[in-house]
Amino acid sequence: MLLAHPDDIGRVLVDRGGDVIKVRPGEKRRGGAGFPLAMMNSEGEEWARKRRRLRPAFRSDRLAGLDAAAAGAVARALDRWDDGAVIDVHAEMSRLAMHIGAVHIAGRPLGAEADALADAVAAIMRLTSSPVRLPAWFPSPVNLGVRRALRALDTALEALIAGHRPDGGATALGLLVEERTAAPFAEVRDELATLLMSGYETTADALTWLVHCLGGAPEADRRLRDAARRSSGDGGGYVAAAAKEALRFYPPAWVISRIAVRPVQAGGYRLPAGTVIGISQWVTHRDERWFPDAGAFRPERWLDGGGPGHRYAYLPFGAGPRGCLGASMAVREIEAVVRALRARVRLEPVEPEKVRARPALALQPLGVRAVVRKE
Ligand code: HEM
Repeated sequence: MLLAHPDDIGRVLVDRGGDVIKVRPGEKRRGGAGFPLAMMNSEGEEWARKRRRLRPAFRSDRLAGLDAAAAGAVARALDRWDDGAVIDVHAEMSRLAMHIGAVHIAGRPLGAEADALADAVAAIMRLTSSPVRLPAWFPSPVNLGVRRALRALDTALEALIAGHRPDGGATALGLLVEERTAAPFAEVRDELATLLMSGYETTADALTWLVHCLGGAPEADRRLRDAARRSSGDGGGYVAAAAKEALRFYPPAWVISRIAVRPVQAGGYRLPAGTVIGISQWVTHRDERWFPDAGAFRPERWLDGGGPGHRYAYLPFGAGPRGCLGASMAVREIEAVVRALRARVRLEPVEPEKVRARPALALQPLGVRAVVRKE
């Protein structure tokens, strides 16, 4: 059952959050894809305990370091890009997000581990975008690819954990391994894998979609450049507004699901226990009732306190107790990257009509290319 009305969405995700679960009991133990010990794949008390433990690393007072990490990563990218060169925007944004995410989560950029992480994410995206999903135990090429990639990622992360230098719990990895009751090794590895992955693909997708949207909206792009160049903040929040609007128009998390464990009243129906409930950001974010002119990229709608016509009509990061742990991190990172980029270059779209959205676990942009214009 797909719920599109924000009243129902709020009821399921927030008010009656206890009547639904995310992970079916037993499912996560079955092997195949997934990191069963991670907070993201846990329920109940175990989930609450793990989420409490990680929260300090993602609180807003810990996010200042992202600005410097983003500025450094963008400066290095700009050194590599020649004026007039054509870049694959998703590949470049992935590289930036991988670097910044790892510095924030693990305290240092990835070396050889980066390929293992990128391969694992690519394998999972292939799995989740394939029209036929075979059971995880079935030795199909896609399933075998995921299993191989996850094993390689395990090995890479073991090296990353072993090389951790104490940071007093400043990073998520520090919190996991330095506490008096440090988490068991396998749990640290699963947690790290899901954090690095969720911080990487979704953020790279969001940045790529933002570049794509700006390419088709020259006036917004100019306003963004002016805001990015102002040294004292972004004057009126235009950078923030553009980031919000891109997350509305192309939400990287385009669908989430829950399973009712008790009967839930929604959409005018009484949904019995066991019902799988779907909520689609793609559908709700493009609903004219909450976003007039919903089919247009208009950052202005977010200026001066503007927003959606309903509190739960805008959910790029979900809502309620299981909302995104890294939401503030993602927003700060996206804004910092786009500010640093747009202050120095314009990315001129190449064949934007060929761009496609691939709905996998995340909404991936395909075919976004741009000419670098150093301004
Ligand atoms: C633009 C980037 C991002 C988007 C669009 C996004 C979106 C989401 C959404 C919609 C959920 C809720 C899923 C549900 O309710 O079923 C979620 C959960 C989560 N996200 Fe993000 N996310 C982003 C970046 C990040 C980052 C940077 C991190 C951390 C490094 C992160 C870590 C998590 C975790 C750990 C959860 C699970 C929370 C739980 O189960 O309690 N995400 N994300």
